[in-house]
Amino acid sequence: MDLSELRGKYIGAVAQAGSEAALEEVRLAALGKKGEISALMATLGKMDPEARKAAGAAMNTLRDEIDAALRARKAGLADAALNDRLKSEWLDVTMPGRPRPRGTIHPVSQVMEELTAIFADMGFAVAEGPQVESDWYNFDALNIPPEHPARQEHDTFFMHRAPGDTRPPHVLRTHTSPVQIRALTDLGTPLRVIAPGRVYRMDMDQTHTPMFHQVEGIAIDRDISMANLKWTLEEFCRAFFEVDRVELRFRASHFPFTEPSAEVDIRYSNVGGQLRIGEGDKWMEILGSGMMHPKVLTAAGVDPNEWQGFAFGMGIDRIAMLKYGIPDLRAFFESDLRWLRHYGFAALDMPDLAGGLSR
Ligand code: PHE
Repeated sequence: MDLSELRGKYIGAVAQAGSEAALEEVRLAALGKKGEISALMATLGKMDPEARKAAGAAMNTLRDEIDAALRARKAGLADAALNDRLKSEWLDVTMPGRPRPRGTIHPVSQVMEELTAIFADMGFAVAEGPQVESDWYNFDALNIPPEHPARQEHDTFFMHRAPGDTRPPHVLRTHTSPVQIRALTDLGTPLRVIAPGRVYRMDMDQTHTPMFHQVEGIAIDRDISMANLKWTLEEFCRAFFEVDRVELRFRASHFPFTEPSAEVDIRYSNVGGQLRIGEGDKWMEILGSGMMHPKVLTAAGVDPNEWQGFAFGMGIDRIAMLKYGIPDLRAFFESDLRWLRHYGFAALDMPDLAGGLSR
């Protein structure tokens, strides 16, 4: 076989090789130790010097040519492989980002922020107390002695005492009223505070859950009256429900820790599941209230001959249901993501009176 034929054969094979492995086979067949070109070059030794010179130069040229073709093809195959990879791993950085699932603010948290903003505007500070409360703060100090029937009405959860310990057990606070005593003892008079938080009672239906939320409010000064209570609550409801007209109904009632006492209902309508405040012929009870009982002031170390105050305890979940038209209280605490996405609030929209409460 003459050199030009060999040349055609191997240059063609290099061009045909579709992978680096195939290319390596071609290289071995031509230039490998036992390759065809190598074998040919081994014959040079037996030639006479004149012929060797000419044949040697031609063979070297052929070997270099095939070698160069192999290298070029190898680089081409590597380029092609890189291009394929780039194509399959291609990323368009100008595409818009995929929105991530976002958390929302629970309506109860939202409403707590809203009512805190409103009461802060009226000069009320925020106080807090523990959810596991002593019997004394939850009952005795609020003029509910051990045998008082109100203790039964509260459906209380009791904590365990060690066997043999005869002290009254701690309770999960049944209302936020114990914070009246704590705030008054800590801060003294005059005083204006609200205390929002969790409370617990053994109760469960469409409008009751074993844990729910109240906000306590007290205002203590030398000349506080029921008129101040009424104005404060009406003003609060107007701001909170964001309507000009609200109608509150004060019903005479009884609480051991207030005298006189009143329960307060708000007028609303329910047309096809749409709740509207300030119209219609339905009333929803939203809070208990009254003038602080002299014994309560005394229990907190305040002289009832010098100071008087009003107190109220409002159901936060109730007013959240009314404002945002949420029909079933139990769903508040089921952690159903679909419910939270529907009724939840955007995390960065903090309510304030200037910017709007329920944006
Ligand atoms: N603590 C009462 C309740 O939970 C509400 C209340 C608070 C009533 C303050 C009067 C004054 O029902």
